[in-house]
Amino acid sequence: MADSPVSINPPGGSDQGFEGPSPQEQKQMEQAFAQMKRKMSMEEIGRKIKHKIMVLSGKGGVGKSTVSTGLALSLAQQGHTVGILDIDITGPNVPKMMGLDGRRLHVENKRIHPAQGHLGVKVISMAFLLEDEDTPVVWRGPIKLGAIQQFIGDVEWGELDYLVIDFPPGTSDEPLTVAQSLPDIDGMVIVTTPQQVALLDSRKSITFSESLKVPVLGVVENMSGFTVNGNTAPGTQVSIAGPGGKTLSATADEKGDFSVTLDIFKEGGGKDTAEEFGVPFLGALPFDPGFVRGGDDGVHRIVSEPEGPSALAFAKVVAAIQDQLSDGADSGLEII
Ligand SMILES: Nc1ncnc2c1ncn2[C@@H]1O[C@H](COP(=O)(O)OP(=O)(O)O)[C@@H](O)[C@H]1O
Ligand SMILES: [Mg+2]
Repeated sequence: MADSPVSINPPGGSDQGFEGPSPQEQKQMEQAFAQMKRKMSMEEIGRKIKHKIMVLSGKGGVGKSTVSTGLALSLAQQGHTVGILDIDITGPNVPKMMGLDGRRLHVENKRIHPAQGHLGVKVISMAFLLEDEDTPVVWRGPIKLGAIQQFIGDVEWGELDYLVIDFPPGTSDEPLTVAQSLPDIDGMVIVTTPQQVALLDSRKSITFSESLKVPVLGVVENMSGFTVNGNTAPGTQVSIAGPGGKTLSATADEKGDFSVTLDIFKEGGGKDTAEEFGVPFLGALPFDPGFVRGGDDGVHRIVSEPEGPSALAFAKVVAAIQDQLSDGADSGLEII
């Protein structure tokens, strides 16, 4: 029907006086069509990606991008196909952490193609839009949100087991836009550090999640303790004087390796916050200077030490998230 030509005979038998759509109407029709196409494409993306996980924090600098990239790489280590969507326009640092510094957008057949980072993880970042990385994008609110929508709808992810979405810090409009655009988001992971101020902010983001209608998968405590590794004679009992007058002990393994974790900040803050809000505690990630080095040289900690303590801690957090996912929509906090 839609393809067959239709002729309209205006009253009076002549086509005089009959006008087609005005340029303004034409533009509106085109916009509506583009929007419809984008919506269909979002739905297709939604179907092709099995799990979508948002990573949020109330405060900047708590390690949200480190956690997003770490989760993605840990999932890839398990053999899953994984993508990361980095929405942070003002300070996008995911490409650097994934060894893709300086990459620009790759467009083919009008579709945006993700770059392949470490372990084959597909990466799309707002940083790929930047002219140069030292110039932050300053877009007014509605333009920024429109760009995000377009960005999500135009990316050719292919089939993915997991998509991890990294956001700017705080309770901004970006998570809302993504939550409204992408269908079937599984839930959000909230990253915090053990200090009171970060915990307070993470409480804010748990409350904020109510307006997103996305369940909270749980809280991850980052920079939770500092792991000291050493080597001595196999089987030796090692004692280390930790902070707060605590003594930490470990036994060297058959190769003589030992490791002890010192709690630099307060212990267990993330767990307390999770309990207070009745959401799962997904685990703690150690303070590891290797993350800082990885941010600088582009080799993520999980890639430089795939079986190190940080990689193992990430694997545990991933397992806790997968537990939540397999529990289905009833897990965690039910948001209405
Ligand atoms: N567990 C950790 N141990 C040591 N340094 C970390 C850890 N997590 C993050 N960092 C460092 O803290 C800084 C901020 O991390 P980033 O992931 O960019 O935070 P956010 O995305 O929340 O702003 C970076 O320099 C990063 O290398
Ligand atoms: Mg970040």
